[in-house]
Amino acid sequence: MSQRTLVLLKPDAVRRGLTGEIISRIERKAGWRISALELRTLDQDTLEQHYGEHRGKPFYEPLVEFMASGPVVALIVEGERVIEGVRALAGPTDPIAAAPGSIRGDYGVIVRENLIHASDSEESAEREVKIFFPGRD
Ligand code: PPS
Repeated sequence: MSQRTLVLLKPDAVRRGLTGEIISRIERKAGWRISALELRTLDQDTLEQHYGEHRGKPFYEPLVEFMASGPVVALIVEGERVIEGVRALAGPTDPIAAAPGSIRGDYGVIVRENLIHASDSEESAEREVKIFFPGRD
């Protein structure tokens, strides 16, 4: 089933010069393709829209502050089972729990700086694509 997903390479990935490495892991998956890519510093409005479902949770403020701390790379990735697939490449939220070989497992240590966001469902993907790339319907 061909899908699309919204991926953010977080400010830690950009600061550490890991965007090429992460993008190349995504590009190497057979049949997946990047259909949009932009380096961008996120404003509060965009972050509130994107992370609104987490408002009130203890990690919300640190997460939003971190995500505004420097530019991110936003991408749309398309292909077979890409929603589940990019999340599998990323590994679980806590990098210490992530297996070696996954992006977070190979490069992350602390939860806030976990390198990558990827939509968690078709519904989230469509909502997030509209936030970051309006007009890409
Ligand atoms: S939940 O409540 O299960 O939906 O939360 P989870 O999916 O694990 O995380 C939602 C997003 O919050 C980020 N997160 C954090 N950021 C900063 N600090 C802490 N402690 C923290 N805990 C979770 C997590 O990386 C998710 O962000 P995205 O961008 O979706 O990866």
